[in-house]
Amino acid sequence: MKVRRPRQLQGEVALPGDKSISHRALILNAIADGTARVANLSPGADVASTANCLRALGVEIEGEEVRGVGMHGLRPAGAPLDCGNSGTTMRLLAGLLAAQPFESELAGDASLSARPMDRVAVPLRRMGAVADGPPLRVGGRPALRGIAYQLPVASAQVKSALLLAGLYAQGQTAITELVPTRNHTELMLAAMGAPISTGVLAITIDRTERLRPIDIDVPGDVSAASFWLVLAALHGDAALTFRDVGVNPSRTALVRLLQSALDLQVAVRNRRLAGPEPAADLEVSSGAALKPFRVAGAEAAELIDELPVLAVAATQLPGRSEIRGAGELRVKESDRIAAVTAGLRAMGAEVQELEDGWRITGPRPLAAASVDSVGDHRIAMAFAVAGMLADGVTEIAGADSAAISDPGFWDQLKRFGALA
Ligand code: S3P
Repeated sequence: MKVRRPRQLQGEVALPGDKSISHRALILNAIADGTARVANLSPGADVASTANCLRALGVEIEGEEVRGVGMHGLRPAGAPLDCGNSGTTMRLLAGLLAAQPFESELAGDASLSARPMDRVAVPLRRMGAVADGPPLRVGGRPALRGIAYQLPVASAQVKSALLLAGLYAQGQTAITELVPTRNHTELMLAAMGAPISTGVLAITIDRTERLRPIDIDVPGDVSAASFWLVLAALHGDAALTFRDVGVNPSRTALVRLLQSALDLQVAVRNRRLAGPEPAADLEVSSGAALKPFRVAGAEAAELIDELPVLAVAATQLPGRSEIRGAGELRVKESDRIAAVTAGLRAMGAEVQELEDGWRITGPRPLAAASVDSVGDHRIAMAFAVAGMLADGVTEIAGADSAAISDPGFWDQLKRFGALA
């Protein structure tokens, strides 16, 4: 894809349905008692992987309908389940399927096959489950037991896997987090009547025989919005509107950071609830001040999917910005620390690669270059933002990977005149 600076940045940006909420709406409704209506599901390839795995397990998903089979209604798939590129699919299903009386094998593409799965397999084995691999094989031993477990890595996927297994375990499952991560699974389970309690960094869940189906109009994906938010903040003369965006506070750390460091102006209108999730319309425009920022610790975990595009922003800020505590980026769909370093350096940025993040000195004008997304959707979109801030035409290899989370992304660039 060839990207250039758009002359103006005014209007509405269409966002895909939230990827994290979509996975959960499918998986949890699949084991509910009855049919749910799930509207505005993420059109991305990752959520299609979850839907196809659930179909292989005997769940009917047709249009907006998910016909739940009940807690004990899943059937063995008879072949490995293809999770594609999706870590969320593999890890959440590992938790659910570890608790089933039949065995399942979870497979994925080359990127997913190289990602760490011990973080789910180890606690699942402590619950008495069979969980080996790679390839990841789970299930076949029905009686799990609840455990008390402190998550060694900040991961909503691992937390969610254990909550799913905990729904089937004898006794209570008690999970403690070191830093907060997105809480979509907890909110949805509570709304479906599961015996879950949530406190500060501590969640408990008990066995249940029944979940109520939940209808949900999935809000727009605030992580997909983040690319446009950074662009709007830096463009100087932007006014963008996003309708029905998910504004769960565990997902909006980027908005807060852009407000403080880049003076992004944000108007929040029409607050509503999308099932258990808060949603709103956002109107954003560029501010006046730019200053460098530091991200570390819990904030890095909250911003994890937004850090590549935040690194792009740092190249345009006066002074030294630092992103630390983000070692998890090395085991995402790609080594995102290495991929961003390579691309931004090719465009003339001053980037120091650290084991757990970057030190970036700006402002540096970005120059058009050929950059490689290494097949990672968030890297492709972060480089698109860099390309829209650069002089000349930037060529992005592997750009079709954006379809993992936002198949409409390049159409939006076209609409703004940002494709060469
Ligand atoms: C996700 C959790 C995060 C995030 C991913 C989606 C989820 O992964 O990076 O894009 O939906 O639970 P980790 O849980 O591995 O941090």
